[in-house]
Amino acid sequence: MAGISVVAAIAIIWIGSWFAHRLVRDGHPGALAYKPADMPPPVDLASIQRGWPDSLEEPAERGRLVAYLHDPARQASAVKPAAATAPAAPVDLGALLLKADANAGKAKAAVCMTCHDLTQGGPNRIGPNLWGVIGRGVGSHPGFSYSPAMAAQHGNWTYDRIFIFLASPARVVPGTKMGFPGFSRPEDRAAVIKYLVTLGNNPPPLPPPS
Ligand code: HEC
Repeated sequence: MAGISVVAAIAIIWIGSWFAHRLVRDGHPGALAYKPADMPPPVDLASIQRGWPDSLEEPAERGRLVAYLHDPARQASAVKPAAATAPAAPVDLGALLLKADANAGKAKAAVCMTCHDLTQGGPNRIGPNLWGVIGRGVGSHPGFSYSPAMAAQHGNWTYDRIFIFLASPARVVPGTKMGFPGFSRPEDRAAVIKYLVTLGNNPPPLPPPS
């Protein structure tokens, strides 16, 4: 009996190892198990660039470049990825305001006047009266019913703050009821602000250019 079970155990081990060898490929992991005939030789991108475009006169060189261009994996390893997002250049608001033209700003502010009165002592309309708004407390004009979002803001309308707000009011103060998409060009915002500065008795000094 003992002899039979030993034989059976050996048989099981032998069959098991035979299966294991069928399952696991021999050889160096990562090496290709076959050698395709049509694999192009590795491309030395630097030498192609150095010889450009003369090196492409040769059909073999051209073929290698075409093969290279069709092989995204190889490109990925040869080409360094560009920085994901270049940091935006900081805006020099002082310099922008120095250059800005109040008259051009007045023309641009025509759109503001569809909702805002800009005169001293003028009424609130769809939006609050904007006389002297620069330096004024945010959401502070008497008699105007601000949105909860605007009413919850603290502090004053500094140059920086109004410059950022006018780029995209709804994004800067989510929930604002100011239905104006904003001016994306910093120059346009600076011009409007330069005009707003003229509409006040005591505007804060312009920020110095940095
Ligand atoms: C479609 C109407 C509309 C237009 C156009 C509009 N606004 Fe407004 N604005 C409003 C409303 C409404 C509010 C009040 C926002 C709130 O309470 O959320 C407001 C608020 C403001 C405030 C905050 C005022 C305060 O007392 O805190 C500023 C600053 C402002 N607007 C500037 C401008 C400028 C500058 C323009 C033109 C570039 C402009 N707005 C165009 C409707 C408008």
